[in-house]
Amino acid sequence: VTLARAQGGLEALSIDRESAKGALYLQGATVTAWQPKDQAPVLWVSAKSLYQVDKAIRGGIPICFPWFGPKADQPSAPQHGFARSRPWMLQSVADDPKDRSVTVTLVLAADRETRALWPHDFRARYAVRMGQKLEIALTVENTGESPFRFEEALHTYLAVADVRGARVEGLEDTRYFDKVDNGKEKRMGPREAITVGGETDRVYVGTSSATELIDPGMNRRISIQKDGSRTTVVWNPWIDKARAMKDFGDDEWKEMICVETANSGPDAIDLEPGGSHTIRALYAVNALA
Ligand code: BG6
Repeated sequence: VTLARAQGGLEALSIDRESAKGALYLQGATVTAWQPKDQAPVLWVSAKSLYQVDKAIRGGIPICFPWFGPKADQPSAPQHGFARSRPWMLQSVADDPKDRSVTVTLVLAADRETRALWPHDFRARYAVRMGQKLEIALTVENTGESPFRFEEALHTYLAVADVRGARVEGLEDTRYFDKVDNGKEKRMGPREAITVGGETDRVYVGTSSATELIDPGMNRRISIQKDGSRTTVVWNPWIDKARAMKDFGDDEWKEMICVETANSGPDAIDLEPGGSHTIRALYAVNALA
């Protein structure tokens, strides 16, 4: 594991183990690569991503916190919170000889700049365990004197051969808000999988179910187990939105889909002083039958 200046001069850890290769930027604690042994890369990063101080990386796993989407009472605040663009502090790197994984731990605590955007004292700890599987866990602690409420998302960009041939299973019969239809509340059919044939931006709520991304084009399934999460977000910008984003290639929408392990809207988390909460996602890759 080495720490060096990477794209844009930003500091990143590069991980090279028997079980997997990967990369993690300290800015935003953003995992930008994970490739288990004998597999193709699992995470997607835009070739047009900016690597700039204070800018979220377009791809990998940005962390949305302490709000998801626009900030409800302050539309001028950065979308998806500040965690994805703040510098995190590297706390430790530990090998586990048993499964040959490596765990990187990073920390972000409230400071003058975060308090200007969100007036609460918190400490966030992010543990990334990389190996044949990838496990990420974000623990938020209320270190202040009054309760607070927050939203969060592990905003994972997954690589697919062609999103039009892929599907997401595991959210059958689940309630969701359709952000491409004015946030209208809808419900998945009892056997319905999510397929992408246009801009897709859905916030599934009240669900702790595991999901699976089935990708026949790459002959693989990516399974996502989670705990401490009641929201799953599925996003693909499709053609027009991809064109409109300057840090996203015009045709790149075909190669990615976000399946985000989250707590948002009605699933926001309330923390009393001294309280803490952990959201966890576990990714595994297997060949299709
Ligand atoms: C998704 C949201 O999680 O993130 C979308 O549901 C949003 O509405 C997308 O467009 C990307 O957000 P951003 O801020 O990284 O461009």
